[in-house]
Amino acid sequence: MTEVELIDQLRGLLFAGHETTAVSLAWTLYWLHREPSTLERVLAEIDALGPHPDPNEYTSLPYLEAACLEGLRIHPPVIDVGRVPRSPFELARYTIPAGEGICPSPLLLHHREDIYPEPSRFRPSRFLDRKFSPFEYIPFGGGGRRCLGAAFAIAEMKIVLGTLLAGHRFRLASDTPVAYVRRSITMGPRGSIPMIYGGKRAVPPAAGQPRSS
Ligand code: HEM
Repeated sequence: MTEVELIDQLRGLLFAGHETTAVSLAWTLYWLHREPSTLERVLAEIDALGPHPDPNEYTSLPYLEAACLEGLRIHPPVIDVGRVPRSPFELARYTIPAGEGICPSPLLLHHREDIYPEPSRFRPSRFLDRKFSPFEYIPFGGGGRRCLGAAFAIAEMKIVLGTLLAGHRFRLASDTPVAYVRRSITMGPRGSIPMIYGGKRAVPPAAGQPRSS
C-alpha cells in the first residue's frame, strides 16, 4: 500500500467503526427495554456468570449475542452495500449488465416475512432457533469486501451491553416509538434515544451461593 492508501485505510477504520457500532448499541438497548422479556433473559444469562465476571465472559453469552444480531437485523445502520458486476448477472427475471452499479439492501432483506416471520418484532431467539446464511443476513455486507470489523463490532457490543446491564438499571424516557432515519451515510434513530438511569443493580451472588440481602 502507498502512504495515501494506508492513511485512507486507517481513516476508514475510524469512520466505518464508530457511528455504526454506536448506533447499533443504542438500538439494541432500546429494543431490550421495549421488550422486557428479552431484557430479563439477557440479565438471567449475565447473572449466571456470578459477581464481577471478566468482561470478556460476556462475549460467550448466546442470547446476548442473539440480541445484538437481532438489533442489527431490525435496524441495520448500513442499508445499501454497493457492487459492480464484472460480467452480466442474472437476478430473478432481470439481467444486470456488467459495469452497472447495484445495491443489495440489508434493510429490505432483513424484513422479508418469509425469512424472518413477524419482521418488525424484536425476537433475538430467532438467531438461536436457526442459522441465517450470508444471503439472508447481511448487516456487514457480504462477499470479498465484507466488513473488516464485523467480529470486533459484535464482541464490542456484547462487552459494552453486558457491562452496562450487569451493574445498572435503565428505562426508556418515552413510550413513543423511535423513528429509523437516514443520518449522513448510515441509518439510525432520529435524534437520540433518551433513557433514564435507574441506579445500580445488586451484584448477583456466585452460582450456588445464597443472595445476601
Ligand atoms: C455494527 C457495526 C458495523 C456495521 C453494521 C458495519 C457495516 C459495514 C458494511 C455494510 C460494510 C460494507 C461491506 C461490503 O461492501 O460488503 C463495512 C465495511 C467496512 N467496515 Fe464495517 N461495520 C461495523 C463496524 C465496523 C468496525 C468496528 C470496524 C473497524 C474496527 C469496521 C471497519 C470496516 C472497514 C475497514 C470496511 C471496509 C472493508 C472493505 O471495503 O474492504 N466496521 N462495514
